[in-house]
Amino acid sequence: MTNSTDLIASFQRAGQGQVFAFYDQLGADERARLLAEAAEIDLAEVEQLYRTLVADKGAAGLDLAGLAPAPYEKRPEHGGDSAAWTRAKAAGEAALRAGRVAAFTVAGGQGTRLGYDGPKGTFPITPIHAKPLFQVFAEKIQAAGVRYGKPLHWFIMTSHANHVATEEFFAAHQFFGLEAARVHFFRQGRMPAVDFAGRILLEGKAAIALSPDGHGGSLRALERSGALDLMQREGIDTLSYFQVDNPLVRCIDPAFIGWHVLRQSEMSSKLVLKAYAEEKVGHFCVQHGRTLVIEYSDLPMDLQRQQEPDGTLRYRGGSIAVHILDRDFVRRMARAAEAGGAAALPFHRADKKIPTVDAAGTEVKPAKANGVKFEMFVFDALPFARNPVLIETLRQDDFSPVKNGEGLDSPQTCRDDQRRQFARWLRANGATVNVDATGLPDINVEVSPRFGYDEDSFADAWKKLSPRPVIRDGLDLV
Ligand code: UD1
Repeated sequence: MTNSTDLIASFQRAGQGQVFAFYDQLGADERARLLAEAAEIDLAEVEQLYRTLVADKGAAGLDLAGLAPAPYEKRPEHGGDSAAWTRAKAAGEAALRAGRVAAFTVAGGQGTRLGYDGPKGTFPITPIHAKPLFQVFAEKIQAAGVRYGKPLHWFIMTSHANHVATEEFFAAHQFFGLEAARVHFFRQGRMPAVDFAGRILLEGKAAIALSPDGHGGSLRALERSGALDLMQREGIDTLSYFQVDNPLVRCIDPAFIGWHVLRQSEMSSKLVLKAYAEEKVGHFCVQHGRTLVIEYSDLPMDLQRQQEPDGTLRYRGGSIAVHILDRDFVRRMARAAEAGGAAALPFHRADKKIPTVDAAGTEVKPAKANGVKFEMFVFDALPFARNPVLIETLRQDDFSPVKNGEGLDSPQTCRDDQRRQFARWLRANGATVNVDATGLPDINVEVSPRFGYDEDSFADAWKKLSPRPVIRDGLDLV
């Protein structure tokens, strides 16, 4: 490691000497901590991000030339090719039986909107047992391993803030029945926040305001942590990527895996039809022959509202942040990120209220945005991927995120969506369950992923059940 004098001098030369403004007042441990944080920072990168994303902001804007909605594989019930879906499912099942697939959860976010203190994956979410999010995924992954005769590896990306608590949670719960050697935790990278003049902010006298580098940071974190090497040793070439906030997700979905494999895709994504024009999701688009996602905040509203002659939305493909990634593609993107340059994921800026210290060293909690955080988004890898495939899915099968404490995308809506799903599975197999117009059953019900984690596994388990349980409030299939 560079010695402390050199490091401090490099910050001073870059106009970032304020990072060490209180250095003389610090004890030995505090100094060591500040120096270690400073050593994580790529000063040239910070300078370049400030110049392009903050100082010159407005110069660029989104280039809309040649933009069009991205084509996608429709579900059979929406006119898609059902034979092709059947082939895809068979190919995905074969890949699972061959042990080519691992699960990957990004769990580095801070869960601020939910107002929950602790790693988001520890949040209780099922309707009867209040199982935490991590347990739901663990049981689905375990059940898929049993079904396809190959236990799966599971990679979990944490952040500096929640890494230790996440590992402790799994240990305290015996990894929810998974083999500990197949569950791998690694931290994502961090980026410093800067003020609107480009100066790196301190969070305290001995701490830099560092925050996670976005879920796009997962690509380089997979490489740095050795996860890609482990995958290679184990013969795994396909990663099933999902967010920690979405317990409804079919985290191991043979049809999705199969589309990806058969098309020799490097990155594939699930798409839902937007519920209404202004819905706040990323939009799948194509431009100059490349697939990309444009966030709702960037796509002009007149385009979001455009309709086809039949009245459907033209830009109707919404992103639910569920992807399949090819191992070697992740490696290529990670190496490009280390090298910098045009082949790497771009950073985005987010203006935030960042707790900091003033010139006297007093802590300040700003009332309005006082600086900028830099983040990468994983979907920005799509334009770099060969043969990307987008497949349609139904929200009811794959998407009910927990984002807010109340209202939309809250624990309540998510629990209700789980009950709707369980009721659908029961009804599809001949059980009589009363539901309202939205499909919500009049009973509380929970199906353990170990019993059934998707339509097929549920149907198989239900067929074997004898005697069948009475359909009543509190029905609990384990
Ligand atoms: C995200 C997507 C949006 C999509 C929606 C679906 C972006 C910018 N937007 O929105 O297009 O429709 O999800 O739910 O991504 N995470 C990390 N490290 C980070 C930041 C986030 O691991 O540095 C993880 C979080 O733990 C979480 C996921 O990424 O699992 C999503 O993060 P969040 O910031 O909540 O995304 P949204 O803004 O809700």
